[in-house]
Amino acid sequence: MQIENYIRDIQDFPKEGILFKDITPLLNDPIARKECLKILVESLKGQKIDKVVGAESRGFFFGMLLAHELNAGFIPVRKPKKLPFDTISASYQLEYGFDSLEMHTDAIKIGDRVLIHDDVLATGGTAKAVCELVERLGGEIVQCNFLMELSFLNGREKINSYPIFSALTY
Ligand code: PRP
Ligand code: MG
Repeated sequence: MQIENYIRDIQDFPKEGILFKDITPLLNDPIARKECLKILVESLKGQKIDKVVGAESRGFFFGMLLAHELNAGFIPVRKPKKLPFDTISASYQLEYGFDSLEMHTDAIKIGDRVLIHDDVLATGGTAKAVCELVERLGGEIVQCNFLMELSFLNGREKINSYPIFSALTY
């Protein structure tokens, strides 16, 4: 079982010159999905996790599976104005301009051991903003994990003070 066989390359999506890594075949195959979840869980080597934080939207899929498997809470980090309760927000740089991400203020308690999950580590802007939100509420980041890392974009450098695990590296 090779999980990379369930990630499909799409040329020129969402715009010309971009090679998009499509995880929908992985989501759609229960055996490959289970194998991928196992790889992510094993990377934690039994460390206790209180909360899993997933980044909207593609970080929600395995983020929730991880939370279930680890008996942890699940916290959605969302794009602006989607969360209904009190929020904190962190901004990050896009190719042109800035965007931001939000989290509920009561999502994390001081000292919570937190796993951050997203599907892809690219430039690292998203992951760094999520780390900032978690630390502002006093969470302790145990690991940032990803289904895949696009290593040529050096996203790892933005979050190099935390343990990082990627199931696949391109
Ligand atoms: C994609 C991907 C990661 C992020 C990685 O999300 O799912 O979250 O970009 O890029 P970065 O490391 O350069 O920040 P996107 O913002 O496209 O939204 P989506 O998950 O809702 O598709
Ligand atoms: Mg995303």
